Amino acid sequence: MSTWIKSGSLVDLEEGVVKKSDLIIEKGRIVKILPPDTIKEKGSHVKVIDASGKVILPGLIDMHVHLREPGHEYKETIATGAKAGVAGGFTTLACMPNTDPPNDNRAVTEFILRQAQEADFCRILPVAAITMRQEGKVLTEFGDLKKAGAAALSDDGFPVTNSELMRRALEYAQYHGLTLISHCEDLNLSRGGVMHEGSVSTRIGLSGIPSASEEVMVFRDICLAKLTNCPVHIAHVSTAGTVDLIRKAKEEGVPVSAETAPHYFTLDHHAVIGYNTHVKVNPPLRTLEDVQAIKEGLSDGVIDVIATDHAPHNVLEKELEFDKAAFGMIGLETALPLTMELVREGVLRLTEAIRKMSSNPASILGIEAGHLKEGARADLALIDPEYEYVLQEKAILSKSKNSPFVGKTLKGRNELTMIGGKVVWKRES
Ligand code: DOR
Ligand code: ZN
Repeated sequence: MSTWIKSGSLVDLEEGVVKKSDLIIEKGRIVKILPPDTIKEKGSHVKVIDASGKVILPGLIDMHVHLREPGHEYKETIATGAKAGVAGGFTTLACMPNTDPPNDNRAVTEFILRQAQEADFCRILPVAAITMRQEGKVLTEFGDLKKAGAAALSDDGFPVTNSELMRRALEYAQYHGLTLISHCEDLNLSRGGVMHEGSVSTRIGLSGIPSASEEVMVFRDICLAKLTNCPVHIAHVSTAGTVDLIRKAKEEGVPVSAETAPHYFTLDHHAVIGYNTHVKVNPPLRTLEDVQAIKEGLSDGVIDVIATDHAPHNVLEKELEFDKAAFGMIGLETALPLTMELVREGVLRLTEAIRKMSSNPASILGIEAGHLKEGARADLALIDPEYEYVLQEKAILSKSKNSPFVGKTLKGRNELTMIGGKVVWKRES
């Protein structure tokens, strides 16, 4: 049995072009990519998927999500998160370790992989903790975690404050071939803050988190990457200062990579006026100048990756005073349309946008994925880039609905997701 994806516009990241193509898929792999109309008739045992008017993307790879299992299954499970992921066009998700218990040992990593296999929606890559209980004191067993299937290391949600420990973590991570993802925050500067420290926080009377809280730690990590010549990946970049620091480090040849999330190039701190807790995220939404700098960083390649930082929270944790609400918003089902907005604005070409959501995270994680070419695994998404719709809460597949984009008009929608040649998700209406 083979599958023929017919007359789509293929995003070819190797050539950096979008070209009209037909794809033939057999045994889970792409066996042929042909110009349209080359194939004249459908043979027997061929399933045809009509992709006319659609764009064929490599399956998206989100290197930063929170799936909440084990421990907080009321917010999200691996199965519900994976389902939301495939609906959003993702075929691979790397899930952060701040679960309960945290993923700081082999048993939790193996549990996550088992649950993922059972859910059987998309590829799940467990990110293990850098330090035991993410306390920043004792390193986890990197070698053992790698053997158990951990794909990367991070204490996301918490910084590794001790610089000497971070230095060792970078060295051991490189030795074990694990990517280290750093949550950059100086807790002494941000403690107690609930939004960006600036004109809006002063006006509406909320305590602020200064940009320096992120930037001092980004600078620290760049110094350590330079000292050790070991790579570091900076999570959720939110400030103009961080973009400048990374740009300069890259110019000097320091092995640093970086990601941002769609909310940091879509919203700014004015969104907090009105106290909508769905825009309470850590790091916080910054100023319009920061948003502009992030767009420039994406456009000139300083920021390599767009990840979601999908952070599901229950209504009980969000329908509270702004001060008391949890940090985080969901993102798996809105990342694609929000990123397409950058393409429409002219900030990124389509190929560049998709590169930041597929082949770039794949190469940073060291996995073989993210390219649609002959011989590659058939992980892909078929999207309608022109489809415009109002996001309805009831349409969200994630178990938690904490998105500030509910009720907003979005443009660009995933229609079908295929993993290893199998259709794992298809839009019904
Ligand atoms: O907004 C956030 N939510 N930032 C983090 O660092 C953690 C995350 C979560 O786990 O909810
Ligand atoms: Zn996170």
